[in-house]
Amino acid sequence: MFRFAAIAAAVVMSMPAFADECSATVEGNDAMQYNVKSIDVPKSCKSFTVTLKHVGKLPKASMGHNWVLAKTADAAAVAKDGIAAGLKADYIKAGDPRVIAHTKMLGGGESDSVTIDVAGKLKAGEPYEYFCTFPGHVALMKGTLQIK
Ligand code: CO
Repeated sequence: MFRFAAIAAAVVMSMPAFADECSATVEGNDAMQYNVKSIDVPKSCKSFTVTLKHVGKLPKASMGHNWVLAKTADAAAVAKDGIAAGLKADYIKAGDPRVIAHTKMLGGGESDSVTIDVAGKLKAGEPYEYFCTFPGHVALMKGTLQIK
């Protein structure tokens, strides 16, 4: 019984560090900026969760933010096709196979998370980019993601 309790305690104590290592939080604001410019995904993570928080006050229709992940080589085309898809589609082309992961489009005060299957979706050595597909935002709202 004592041994079981000691093991259980060790497992519980190790969980926060593990969860932290395999997740990241990105904030978007009313000045059209993310607060995180680069994310390293440890290759030891089975899955990796990104939470986007819109910390501004403006509505989705005028200052919407999402977090969309694609290979760097695909990013510009994904953003361009997203604009054509429109706000009702969260500015993401339906079924776009170049989109590896994405959150919902958010307005001020909202948040959303997306979980990525690391081994299934990401490759070491491949450069990835994340960005907001709201029209005009990709110029400022982008960052790099890589497996480390
Ligand atoms: Co945005």
